Amino acid sequence: MTAAPSPRSDRIVEFSADQFRERLNEAVRIYVNAMGYPPSTAQQRAPMWSAHMLRAGWRCVGALTADDELLGVGYGYLGHPGQWWHEQVRRGILARSPGSAEEWLTDYFELTELHVRPDSQGSGLGEEILRRLLDGAAGSKVLLSTPEGPTRAWRLYRRIGFQDVLRHYQFTGDPRPFAVLGRALPLEPRQGS
Ligand SMILES: CC(C)(COP(=O)(O)OP(=O)(O)OC[C@H]1O[C@@H](n2cnc3c(N)ncnc32)[C@H](O)[C@@H]1OP(=O)(O)O)[C@@H](O)C(=O)NCCC(=O)NCCS
Repeated sequence: MTAAPSPRSDRIVEFSADQFRERLNEAVRIYVNAMGYPPSTAQQRAPMWSAHMLRAGWRCVGALTADDELLGVGYGYLGHPGQWWHEQVRRGILARSPGSAEEWLTDYFELTELHVRPDSQGSGLGEEILRRLLDGAAGSKVLLSTPEGPTRAWRLYRRIGFQDVLRHYQFTGDPRPFAVLGRALPLEPRQGS
């Protein structure tokens, strides 16, 4: 029996907006499966992700098999006043620690999405995508939001050095508690590299 190929043998590539547009449905499928959302979520996400591609500082990285199949994807862009997520996070920071709003919400890269196909999770692919995405990302810091809970995403973000910006925060229209995490850029090189 031959061993399954290691995720390390997959290619980690940066996608242009045109390249990612061609893979949009494949990428949204990974998101829906990784997050365990109903398939109908894809219909709302595809146009939103397309609009995000037009934002300043947009950068997207994917992991491909030798057969050009997408195993994981991450993207983000420069956060700006007026964007929904920016205004939501500003509201939260202003309510809890107003002094740090400008510090966090100026010149930051918003890590908007990071997802690995469920059958490829747990062997370091998410970290590889994240590191490649942030290596060269615009901004002096990176911010993200993630549902509260002991998830693999949490372990990854802590390992990479993300700090609490907001905890147990509720975004408008979503009953789940979220954490907003952030850290300065660039990342330190991976241990042992
Ligand atoms: C979060 C997510 C992107 C992380 O990607 P991943 O490839 O599964 O995770 P990582 O890169 O962190 O690696 C996972 C594990 O492999 C281990 N690992 C790292 N390098 C490795 C290697 N070379 N060989 C084997 N294992 C390795 C890590 O130590 C880690 O261990 P842990 O899970 O016990 O902490 C992915 O799990 C996912 O899509 N989850 C669902 C969607 C989601 O929550 N997205 C984020 C929303 S904010």
